Amino acid sequence: MKKPIVILGPMESESALLIHHLENKTEHKIGAFTYFKGSVDGYPVVVCRTYIGMVNSAAATALAIQHYDPLCVIIQGTSGAHNPALHQGDIVLGERLIHVGRFFTPHRDVGEGSDAFQWEPHGSEIVTVAPGEDTAVLYSDSRIIDIAQTVPYMGGRVIRGCIGAADIWNKELDMLAHLHRTLGTDCEEMEGFGVAQVCALFGVPMADIRVISNSEWHPEEEFNEKFGEQCQMFVLEVIRRLIAEKTLM
Ligand code: 5AD
Repeated sequence: MKKPIVILGPMESESALLIHHLENKTEHKIGAFTYFKGSVDGYPVVVCRTYIGMVNSAAATALAIQHYDPLCVIIQGTSGAHNPALHQGDIVLGERLIHVGRFFTPHRDVGEGSDAFQWEPHGSEIVTVAPGEDTAVLYSDSRIIDIAQTVPYMGGRVIRGCIGAADIWNKELDMLAHLHRTLGTDCEEMEGFGVAQVCALFGVPMADIRVISNSEWHPEEEFNEKFGEQCQMFVLEVIRRLIAEKTLM
């Protein structure tokens, strides 16, 4: 039996088009999540809308791994730019993935206020990773990223980069600059690291592929759903190539 490719998208505007492109699809409800199982170019593919946030994406991933034993998991969708050079429509292939909502703060006394620039990022507790190894950064599977880089794309640039995730939508330019400078993040979203962490726990290859849908650096570049559709079409082409070239199989 062929192991399916699982594709996740948080919002309707980040998953409906992929569901639409599945051939011979059937619908499976597992708890709160609906998984659409069908095929692309004759190869089994499962698509699920995770809904927004790290806990939702982690839960949807764990259930998909348990029920479908996937070849790989691809999380995709929209993101906001940290890197000022990026614009709406550009695609970030998440070579590196960082949790940007997990920090230790230095002690401050009552009345001393808060200074998020002093917060120290720290690793995740991932039991399958050897002690001493860095768990603050997780990685998309390089074979998926390499294939994605060969996909023609007219909507903007395609770069290999670093994607930050947390249950935060950050619009503070000084903070976006700080994260970009200290952690190297190119953009932020709310699901990718949760998917990567669960995939690391279960030893499943994964990739995070995001389109820039908004940038605080460029005030006219406000969030627009159409970029979620653009990202889905890009990812559909990525999986067509993974299937044609039998990558990971
Ligand atoms: N910050 C955080 N999440 C963002 N998303 C798009 N842009 C941003 C941003 N600037 C994505 C998240 C989530 C939804 C709110 O949109 O991944 O799914």
